[in-house]
Amino acid sequence: MTDSVQLNDRILLVTGAGSGLGETVSKACAAAGATVVLLGRKVPKLEKVYDDIIAAGGAEPAIYPLDLGGASPEDFFDLAKVLEENFGRLDGLVHNAADLGELTPLELHTPGDWMKTWQINVHSPLFLTQACLPLLRNSDNGSIIFTEHQCDDAYWGAYGESKAAVHHLIDSFTRELDGVPRVNGLHPGPLQSPMRTQTHPGDNIKDYPEMSTIMPAYLSLLSADSDVNGQHIDAQSA
Ligand SMILES: NC(=O)c1ccc[n+]([C@@H]2O[C@H](COP(=O)([O-])OP(=O)(O)OC[C@H]3O[C@@H](n4cnc5c(N)ncnc54)[C@H](OP(=O)(O)O)[C@@H]3O)[C@@H](O)[C@H]2O)c1
Repeated sequence: MTDSVQLNDRILLVTGAGSGLGETVSKACAAAGATVVLLGRKVPKLEKVYDDIIAAGGAEPAIYPLDLGGASPEDFFDLAKVLEENFGRLDGLVHNAADLGELTPLELHTPGDWMKTWQINVHSPLFLTQACLPLLRNSDNGSIIFTEHQCDDAYWGAYGESKAAVHHLIDSFTRELDGVPRVNGLHPGPLQSPMRTQTHPGDNIKDYPEMSTIMPAYLSLLSADSDVNGQHIDAQSA
């Protein structure tokens, strides 16, 4: 994969765009020429990313505030309607937002926390994808990226189980959509990302690669020139 990918004229939607990996992906895509719709739950964070993109000379983004923890399927169809009215299509959808929830034995998992994590990590990406599929089919080469995390060990709670469901969603969508749009999963791996500091608080975060190092993997999959479909990709070795 190359780090000189151009995304000129591509319309992309990134969830969890206000911080962490989603912020880094949004800025990298805008720097490559894409118009990025920044979706997140905290407007000040989204505005900061917007300002940073403009200051860096990137393509002007758009802001769409939405709390995925409380979003209904109707909210996603409202979002798709706004995208339709403003752009007429969607070239890429990056499912990045995630809730870490409780890292705890399943025996002790609280129902409310379990359901919140599944709502943000599984239900929202599913129904957002449903709502956006007609727009992605209007693209010359639509691309959906799900952000993966393989957590096979004990105590990952709802987060680990929900990420296993995401892995399965990728395979099911791939079989059902037949490449229009393309669907892939990206594993960020250990990085200097906010979630790493929560899951491995004893580690020295500086020992890990910076988030920017895996941007070529995102840009490549979002490019109009890509034909990669149905893959689960390790972003650090892509
Ligand atoms: N494969 C791996 O090894 C690996 C490693 C690290 C991360 N990941 C994945 O990479 C992605 C990003 O993680 P990260 O490290 O950048 O951590 P992070 O900053 O905690 O990322 C979570 C993002 O989701 C957003 N979010 C959480 N709840 C939300 C809600 N209810 N509505 C809307 N947005 C919400 C957060 O927004 P706020 O700013 O508002 O909190 C934040 O932008 C996640 O999908 C994570 O599972 C994978």
